[in-house]
Amino acid sequence: MGTQTQPVQGMSDVTGGEARLWQWMEGKARETMRRYGFVELRTPILEYESVFRRTVGETTDVVQKEMYAFERGGRRYCMRPEGTAGVMRHAAGLGAQETAGARWFYWGPMFRCERPQAGRKRQFHQCGVECLEEPSPAVDAEILALQVDLLAAWGVGDVEVKLNTRGAKGDHARVAEGLRAALAPRLGDLCDDCRRRIGENVLRVLDCKEEGCRKVVESLPPVTEWMGDESRAYLDAVAGHLERMGVAYRREPLLVRGLDYYEHTIWEITGTGTGQQNAVAGGGRYRMELGGRELCGVGFAIGIERVAGLLEERGLAAAHAGEEAPDVWLVGLGDAAAADNLRLMRELRAAGASCRMAPGGSMKSQMRAANKSGARWALIRGDDELAAGTAALKDMASGEQTPVDCVAADIAARVAAPRENA
Ligand code: HAM
Repeated sequence: MGTQTQPVQGMSDVTGGEARLWQWMEGKARETMRRYGFVELRTPILEYESVFRRTVGETTDVVQKEMYAFERGGRRYCMRPEGTAGVMRHAAGLGAQETAGARWFYWGPMFRCERPQAGRKRQFHQCGVECLEEPSPAVDAEILALQVDLLAAWGVGDVEVKLNTRGAKGDHARVAEGLRAALAPRLGDLCDDCRRRIGENVLRVLDCKEEGCRKVVESLPPVTEWMGDESRAYLDAVAGHLERMGVAYRREPLLVRGLDYYEHTIWEITGTGTGQQNAVAGGGRYRMELGGRELCGVGFAIGIERVAGLLEERGLAAAHAGEEAPDVWLVGLGDAAAADNLRLMRELRAAGASCRMAPGGSMKSQMRAANKSGARWALIRGDDELAAGTAALKDMASGEQTPVDCVAADIAARVAAPRENA
């Protein structure tokens, strides 16, 4: 039974108030993106697996453990675990002219086969951006500000921005060596996974959740210790821009991101308050090679489920999740009027009003259905009104009934409520 009625573990059907909340969020996102000069890019959910292996990184959890990957007809495919690599795959197929200064945003499902728990899904949704402008601390700060502005537009402006640097590509080997040397005397305090990670991808030790590892990590110096002046100056410049824009942030000297393509600026955003351990968003500057082209950009992704969770927690979700009642409910007395209502309903809809009717029944049962629907108006016709081309328009709140000519455009103009996204 279970497998026939339940979605795949860690995945959800989204409908009702939740779907309405998401629609509202998406509308706000589109409006914010427009003001920042971003255009939408919809990449396929399925990509060749190689798109992610080389960019996200062979030794990351995402590639090693979490991808839904499979073979078909001799090729390996993968459900996208994140958005950046697909966007860069698209960019790599364009000419340099077309990618210079590109600003893309996306909204859609991502797939990671993680252990499901609160706030962690196997299909989740991201709203993200990628900006391919000439690298500079100013662009990085602008993109971070966009992310904070978007969160504020949703009503979750009071978040915590944690900022750090991954350093220039040339610094990466030195940082890894430095970390290995600093961790060497503490090997006994690390978990088995981390002892393996030291050789494979030592940065992963920094975001291990094990208590013992956390203690060791807290005693480490900032990663900037092993970086050159250029990397430190770049981070300071980003911080300076954020301060001038009034974007609040906190330096997090041991912050690392779970994906390997980053260089220079990286950040993570968490909600403030209790129980909010999970990041709602993350981003940074990156460089990757795809299709023989080296591409660099800066971007972020926000977890829609996590923001919706924050809105819920703060009591802000209900205002955008309310059910929309029809403008008008059609009531037909007698067979001819009931049959003609189907035609009238179509004309009213074409003229902009939302309307519904009951499939039949007595006046009383139809009015009960109208009441239950929450419709603001009922339009009532019997055979006499049908013959005369008139109807009775009833205000459901006051009970007041007015005779009207049964002209769809006129009725629609009177009953259609203004809509936010019309
Ligand atoms: P990420 O940090 O892996 O970055 O994911 C971004 C956000 O997606 C997270 O902060 C979280 O809110 C949400 N998220 C990730 N995994 C899950 C999950 N299993 N369940 C629910 N929500 C989840 C990226 O994906 C990068 N592509 C961001 C980026 C864009 N960097 C540069 N450009």
